Amino acid sequence: MSQLKKTTIPKLRKIMTSGTPITMITCYDYSMAHIVEKAGLDIVLVGDSLGMTLLGYDSTLPVTMDDMVRHTQAVRRGAPTRFVIGDMPYMSYQPSDETAVRNAGRLMAETGCDAVKIEGGQEMAPRVEAMVAAGVPVMGHIGLMPQSSAALGGFRLQGKTASKAARIIEDARILEDVGCFAILVEMVPDRVCRILTEQSKIPVISLGSGPHAHGQLLIFHDLFGLYPNFTPTMARRYVDAGEVLLSGLLDYVREVQSGDFPGGENYFSITDEELVRVKKLLNPRLTRPLSVVSSKD
Ligand code: KIV
Repeated sequence: MSQLKKTTIPKLRKIMTSGTPITMITCYDYSMAHIVEKAGLDIVLVGDSLGMTLLGYDSTLPVTMDDMVRHTQAVRRGAPTRFVIGDMPYMSYQPSDETAVRNAGRLMAETGCDAVKIEGGQEMAPRVEAMVAAGVPVMGHIGLMPQSSAALGGFRLQGKTASKAARIIEDARILEDVGCFAILVEMVPDRVCRILTEQSKIPVISLGSGPHAHGQLLIFHDLFGLYPNFTPTMARRYVDAGEVLLSGLLDYVREVQSGDFPGGENYFSITDEELVRVKKLLNPRLTRPLSVVSSKD
């Protein structure tokens, strides 16, 4: 049993006001979530980035509600006390308020997550209002929004000019006003994120937007060197787990080929008596004496 207390929205606010940075990571399955739970990170995002990191698509657009439900359930089981956010996939909320409420409700009810996240600024204000009115806590996501990367010119820094930066700061204020409990700011210049954070009464989390936010997010696969295509500049690789896994796999292949694996401790035996009976059952007319040496001898 985990010794950690459940993380809640009031607890996140408390961490924010204490000045301790909030820690957040993406996570996509039970085994990863189990480690994240042990490490005690504050927020776990089951991001639709799983489309790229786990499923190998070249964008997040093909990810479905069913994908998100399945993975969020697994993460919830692995991280029972962490604040788990389920990401709303492409076109699960954009079409209408009603679609957004239905899909957000499904994600909450079927997975037990604590909140959902949607991408978009002020244009998403009615969606946020509708979901919050239906009792769903919503994290906003502004700056670089991967679901709109085609429209934004790719996975690149946002808010570099005064008018674009002002719009992002305004987006954050409006999302707060319509009820978001927190905002994720991706790939925005540090001083723009600073202004936005200083104006905010709700936690602002940075992904590649500098140190002035109330917390930081990293993508699990970037932190561990597990995404083969690239590691973005905004990420820091803490452990090259890809190298560790590769070395383990090479050892495994070598030991299977040399006969070192499996060892006696890796399999189970049957008694000589039962083995004789098995062989008789297979061939009742068997007359020749059977070899009854233990398979481990
Ligand atoms: O899906 C995801 O992991 C995200 C992050 C890029 C913020 O939305």
